[in-house]
Amino acid sequence: MAGRIVKDDIEALRTQADIVAVVGEYTTLKRAGRAFKGLCPFHTEKTPSFTVTPEGNFYNCFGCGVSGDLYDFLMRIEGLEFPEAVESLARRTGFQLRYEQMSARERRAVGERTRLVAVTAAARDFLVAQLYAEEGRVARDYLVSRSFSRADAERFELGYAPNRFDAMARALTADGYSEQDLVTTGLVARTERGGLRDRFRGRLMFPIHDTSGDVIGFGGRILPGLDYGGFDPPKYLNSSETPLYKKTRVLYGVHQARSEIVRAEQVLVCEGYTDVMALHQAGVGYSVATCGTAVGVEHLRTLARYAARVVLAFDGDAAGVKAAERAWEAARELEGDGQGVSLDLRVLVLPETSDPADLVAEVGSEGVAAAVAAATPVVPFVLRHHLAAGDLTTESGRTAALKDALTILGREADPDLRREWARTEIAERIGYAYGFVAETAARLGVQLDAHEGVAVAAAGPAREGRGPARPEPGGAAGASLTAARARLERAALRALLQHPEHLPPEAGELEERDLSHPDARAVLRAIQAGGGPAAPLRAIVDAAEDDRVRGLLRALALEDDPETSDPDLVAEVVAGRIRRLLVDRVDAAARALRDELSRLSHTTDPDRVLAVQRELAELQRRRRQLLGQPA
Ligand code: UTP
Ligand code: MN
Repeated sequence: MAGRIVKDDIEALRTQADIVAVVGEYTTLKRAGRAFKGLCPFHTEKTPSFTVTPEGNFYNCFGCGVSGDLYDFLMRIEGLEFPEAVESLARRTGFQLRYEQMSARERRAVGERTRLVAVTAAARDFLVAQLYAEEGRVARDYLVSRSFSRADAERFELGYAPNRFDAMARALTADGYSEQDLVTTGLVARTERGGLRDRFRGRLMFPIHDTSGDVIGFGGRILPGLDYGGFDPPKYLNSSETPLYKKTRVLYGVHQARSEIVRAEQVLVCEGYTDVMALHQAGVGYSVATCGTAVGVEHLRTLARYAARVVLAFDGDAAGVKAAERAWEAARELEGDGQGVSLDLRVLVLPETSDPADLVAEVGSEGVAAAVAAATPVVPFVLRHHLAAGDLTTESGRTAALKDALTILGREADPDLRREWARTEIAERIGYAYGFVAETAARLGVQLDAHEGVAVAAAGPAREGRGPARPEPGGAAGASLTAARARLERAALRALLQHPEHLPPEAGELEERDLSHPDARAVLRAIQAGGGPAAPLRAIVDAAEDDRVRGLLRALALEDDPETSDPDLVAEVVAGRIRRLLVDRVDAAARALRDELSRLSHTTDPDRVLAVQRELAELQRRRRQLLGQPA
């Protein structure tokens, strides 16, 4: 990317571009008065609730609440950063952007990058042409043997590097690319006698793109039946480290997968080129690969821009555990660097000797989607492997396993998760009472108490206000639970705003802490500040803290809510939503009390035991009452 884009150009392009035409590339729009309507490209729906207003350069979905201008639309749908969205729009509309003055050093860097990506793009074009030329038959046959079609090959711009000494070097220099630039991209090396030699020879070629779609390097696979001059070549060869290609950043397929990752709200990270291709082919378009390198901070930083849920798929071998631990470490480093990134890192364990490509072949795309949905959160995954490696048949083995597991657990920054996993992954698996596990944890400086903040051993600051990306404790179905949770919160708020006359008496008890989504909390604050659900909508909207919340309020007050359209059922439906939120609060309180109870001793603290038991019984009653069950 070049320097800063001139501000006036950003504004000029914004007013000049046709939002209906651009959005129309993603969903079919029909005129409806001054606006255009269509199916929302950001969520699945059957009736259109997505509108585009050309006069205001504005889009809005009453169904899922997204809204913004054309730049915002491109950022959201393509997963772009702001300047990338501006550049993308400029490219689409043929608008010539200007860039602010750059320092001589910046200009040189930009100039070099521009030249180098021109070389890699030309190399890609050359390699693609070779794949379909006579000489490329060996590679085409190989693709057929792997069940990849011509469309798959074209989608990934696959090519063939001729099995000759300097085929690419000759072709590119003949096209006018400088020898120095060819060498700098690593595609070509200088021989001792000063000539040029291709790095990739006799290989099926996979171009590697960065997020903006520039080719930064290549991977090349050997092909059966070719002669490599008596050497035993590595199965895959990647570009060497160059100003363009940094292997700690490479995410194969990220350019193709980006918008799918945003849509799916998750990304599947696998190991190799063919995994990504097979997954894309099977409709699992949210997959990328790190190409033989461990998942590190840079990979996660890039992926976190697109989705919080990162699922690592490892071929079924022990290396997966080490890799998962390292990735977890990288995630903690990223989360601790103050940028507000929060990841839900998970591990998909593939059966022994199988990789994602095999999985697709065996279970199809639905099977893969189900396996991805059931991926294990990284901490339980690591804990399970450590416990499995220990000897749990002897007391000393169990003690050692407990210490090991608690040390690992101490690295989890979220106290709720620490408690949950201390119970389900440590106490239950080793066969110790939770109270004993908690005591040992305290001795090791690992905090499991509900009220005393961060674990001593945990890296990074306590995280607050973590949004819906936070994994549900212990649940493999965590992400879908949190999505369901966000839906419930939205539905409850719709009920408050649309049906104040049908609210159950408990509605007044709802508090911010009953809502986990920050937007939902802001909406509830506005409702309360504006005089409660029965107040005029105008007063509530006026009480909102900013335009975003005002937009959300209007959307929630207006959007369709078919479940509440039957006048005989509306009161019941509305009450059900409010009560489910309150039941969750009761359940959380009960969990905390049960935790406490398991640590209390009947002999030293009989009064507290009794009090906790009474409180638990009271919560039980309350729960039944909320659910309309007999007391
Ligand atoms: P695999 O050996 O699992 O390759 O290595 P694969 O993707 O399943 O390849 P096929 O199916 O045999 O064609 C996984 C990844 O590790 C890197 C490559 O990125 C590969 O895709 N790798 C592997 C190398 O960089 N060099 C090697 O020699 C082998
Ligand atoms: Mn593999």
